[in-house]
Amino acid sequence: MKIIVGISGGIAAYKVPQLVRLLKKRGHEVQCVVTAHALEFVTKVTLETVSERRLYCDLFDDGNERTTEHISLKDWGDVLLLAPATANIIGKMANGIGDDALSTLLLSFGGKPMFVCPAMNTQMAENVAVAENLRVLEERGVRVMDYEVGELACGAVGKGRMAEPEKIVEWLEEKLEEGKSMRGKRVLITAGPTYEKIDAVRFIGNYSSGKMGFALAEEFAERGAEVTLVAGPCNQTTKSRGVRRIDVESAQEMYDAATEAFERADVAILSAAVADFRPDHQEEQKIKKQGDGGMTLKLVQNPDILATLGKRKREGQLLVGFALETNNEMTYATEKLKKKGLDMIVMNSLRDEGAGFGTDTNKVTIIDKAGNVESGELKSKREVAGDIADAVERQMENK
Ligand code: CTP
Repeated sequence: MKIIVGISGGIAAYKVPQLVRLLKKRGHEVQCVVTAHALEFVTKVTLETVSERRLYCDLFDDGNERTTEHISLKDWGDVLLLAPATANIIGKMANGIGDDALSTLLLSFGGKPMFVCPAMNTQMAENVAVAENLRVLEERGVRVMDYEVGELACGAVGKGRMAEPEKIVEWLEEKLEEGKSMRGKRVLITAGPTYEKIDAVRFIGNYSSGKMGFALAEEFAERGAEVTLVAGPCNQTTKSRGVRRIDVESAQEMYDAATEAFERADVAILSAAVADFRPDHQEEQKIKKQGDGGMTLKLVQNPDILATLGKRKREGQLLVGFALETNNEMTYATEKLKKKGLDMIVMNSLRDEGAGFGTDTNKVTIIDKAGNVESGELKSKREVAGDIADAVERQMENK
C-alpha cells in the first residue's frame, strides 16, 4: 500500500523515522510530507533515508518540478497517516485551511482514508476547540487514534502522548482491514499456462504469462480477501501477504489443487490457460529421432477444471471463467458461460490489440448469467482486475 505520512511540528515527530521503517518493513511504500516546524524535531536527511523518497515540505521548493507537485501526491497515496498531528494542523484540517504543502495535501485528499494520531500537551488536548475539531474530523470519516496517557515532553503526566510506532502500525492495519470490502472472503484464482510433459525435456505449453491472474490475486488480496492462487509455470511474483500461492505444472495438478481449494472458496476465478490435451503417456527418457520419418503424438483430453467446479458449485459460491476468442466472441463466450455453469465470464478477443497473452494491458467484456454486458476499454491488467473485482462484488450483493 502507498502511505503518505504527514508530520507536523510536535516533539513526537522524533518517533516518526521508526514508524516509517516499520511501515516499510510491512511492505508499504511511504512518502513523507512535513510542515516547516516538523523539521525542528526530525531532519530531512533522516526522513528521506528511511522512506527512500524525497521529502515534501515547501509549496515553492526549488526541487519541485511544478508548484502543484505536492497536490499530485493525492493521486499517488492510497491512505494518509498524520502523525504526530498537532492542535494547529488538526485545526486547519477541520476548518479547510491550506497554507503549506501538508495542509493543502490534506484538503485535496478527500475520498481516501485518512488517519490522525494527535499528540499535544494535556491542556491543549482538553481544550474545547481542539476536541471539537477532532469530533468534526471523525464525523467526516477521518479515523482518530486515542491519545496515550503518560509522561509528556513538558514534564507533566497526563493525556496527550502519541502512541509508540508499533502500536500505530497495528492500529492503522486493523482499521484498514475493517474497511475492506472482501474481508473474510476466500477467493480461488488460477493463473498462467500449464505444461503437459512429452518426455524428459519437452512439453506442450502455451504463451500465457500469468499476468492477469496475478493482477487479480493482488487486487482481491488488497480488498481483504484470503486468496489461493494456483499458478502454472510462469515468471510472475507477488509480495502480497494475502495471497497463498500453490505452484503447479500440468492441467491435472492444477485440477487437483483447484478442486480442493474450491471446497472452501466463496469465489473462484479461473484465468489460467489450461492445455485442453496432454500426451497419452509421458516418456521418462528423451525421445530419440527415428530415421527420417515424422512423429505422431497421441493426445488425450485433460479434465475441464472450470466445468467441474460449475457442477460442484454450492449455493452462495460464485464462479467466474475466462474466454479468449478470435471470432464470434460474444456467442462463444455466452455459450461457455451457460455450458460450464458460470455466474460470469470475462471475454477477451485476440482481435483487440494490447489484449490477451503476455501484454501488460487487457480489454475485456464482462458478461453475467443475467445477460448484463459490460465492455471495458484497453487498460492495465491491474485496472482490469479492479473492474472484475467490482463486478464480482456486485454479483455477491445480489446472491
Ligand atoms: N479451463 C479450465 N480447464 C480446462 C480448460 C479450460 O478450467 N481444462 C478454463 C479456463 O481457465 C478459462 C475457460 O475454461 O476460464 C476457458 O474455456 P474453454 O472452453 O476451455 O476455452 P478454450 O480452451 O479456449 O475452449 P475452446 O477451445 O472450445 O474455445
